[in-house]
Amino acid sequence: MKKSLKEKIRLWKSLYVNAFENATNALPRVRGVLLAYNTNIDAIKYLDKEDLEERVEKVGKKRVFELMENPPEKVTSLEELFAGILRSIKLGKAMEWFVEDRGVRNYLREWGWDELRIGGQAGIMANLLGGVYRIPTIVHVPQNPKLQAELFVDGPIYVPVFEEGEFKLVHPKEAVKENEEELIHYIFEFSRGFQVFDIVAPRENRFIANADDYNARVYIRDEFKEHFNKIVKNVDLAIISGLQVLKEFYEDGTTYKDVLNEVEAQLDVLNERNIKSHFEFAYTANKKVRETLINLLPKFTSVGLNEVELASLMEIIGDEELAREVLEGHVFSVIDAIHLLMDETGIQRIHFHTYGYYMALTQYRGEKVRDALLFAALAAAAKAMYGNLENLSQIRDALSVPTNEKAFFIEEELEKEFGEVENGVIDMTDRQLTFIPTKIVASPKSTVGIGDTISSSAFVSEFAIRQ
Ligand code: AMP
Ligand code: GLC
Repeated sequence: MKKSLKEKIRLWKSLYVNAFENATNALPRVRGVLLAYNTNIDAIKYLDKEDLEERVEKVGKKRVFELMENPPEKVTSLEELFAGILRSIKLGKAMEWFVEDRGVRNYLREWGWDELRIGGQAGIMANLLGGVYRIPTIVHVPQNPKLQAELFVDGPIYVPVFEEGEFKLVHPKEAVKENEEELIHYIFEFSRGFQVFDIVAPRENRFIANADDYNARVYIRDEFKEHFNKIVKNVDLAIISGLQVLKEFYEDGTTYKDVLNEVEAQLDVLNERNIKSHFEFAYTANKKVRETLINLLPKFTSVGLNEVELASLMEIIGDEELAREVLEGHVFSVIDAIHLLMDETGIQRIHFHTYGYYMALTQYRGEKVRDALLFAALAAAAKAMYGNLENLSQIRDALSVPTNEKAFFIEEELEKEFGEVENGVIDMTDRQLTFIPTKIVASPKSTVGIGDTISSSAFVSEFAIRQ
């Protein structure tokens, strides 16, 4: 029998409450998680209209507006910096450009920030998994200057160090290297409706000016290469991220393949030890790199992606039409696309997240997949509300954010197509499709890092919950 709206709200509310209990009870069971490779400093600035307009006028509004329409995709001058910021606002799109010019880097540093946070997918996940979930976490830091180390919260967060031939795991604050570089990503956040000149942001989002020469090449520390075997003895899960920045060629003659060979060797070690691994996909501009990343997926247990990233994969293994439909948000196209990705790669778990709902396709069954997605949605809503997560009670607070009712219509469509949807779980004979409506925070404090929060919370809690 069809459920009324009230019944659905009540049902999902109780599923959310149960999932929070199940996940938080299970998290202490995880022995350790490895997070590699990208950690940096996020310098967050909440844009101010007057300040921004003044600066744009000063460098030359006309040229900035011209560049805004013909985006250079990187920053070699102040005009290009502001063109990037304005373009991101105009489209309401997340964008990240690399800052090549030293002068612009100095300007950014002088302009300053409102808040410093740990950044990079690995860094963000470390503060969440180690700092909030209290799971022992080993994180790769390409550089470990004081400014960055101090952004790691207290808790079981470790970096490997080798002193006098001895292997030790210590908190990043205890392994500071004064002479190492500060890898700063300047993040310009704006809210929906933010206006600058005649440009109005259609939705909240951010522009990132990336002044970091290490993560741009997926720099892997020597300790991490030479003693990987020892490092992984301490973990039963691994999350890999940061490969999206790779380029086809570098000035010194090396290519993305050199980096990916090293990554592959580390994946082989993880697989030999039965360590389950998740790949956090991020938009990868270079098509060749993207293609090679797809070829690496069979070595992972799980992958996490959003609609833009899934569409970009369909351009390679599907077709332009499927890619467009995924981008437009057609749910059945998304389902076709994740099936296709699983067919092509054999990967066991695909977690798709978009504004308003998440789906997971798995080669195994269980309600734990749904509970993990629900827990991740609570963590995402809490991250949107507070910006920085410090404790589990903030995630519990997110239970009071209303469940996205629009997703109930999608659930009904799924029911029409696939028959019964048992509390979000659809049995597809050889696979399970799991669907959940999420919680949407009306005015988020900031947007950076929500995707990382979703993927890591779901992956780790799913493998922690025993059923
Ligand atoms: P990404 O696209 O990987 O950066 O991740 C962004 C994800 O964050 C989206 O897919 C949404 O699921 C989630 N998200 C974005 N804004 C909000 C919000 N205001 N409240 C809750 N979740 C959000
Ligand atoms: C990218 C950015 C980094 C940010 C992260 C959030 O890796 O370079 O600054 O913290 O995305 O997901």
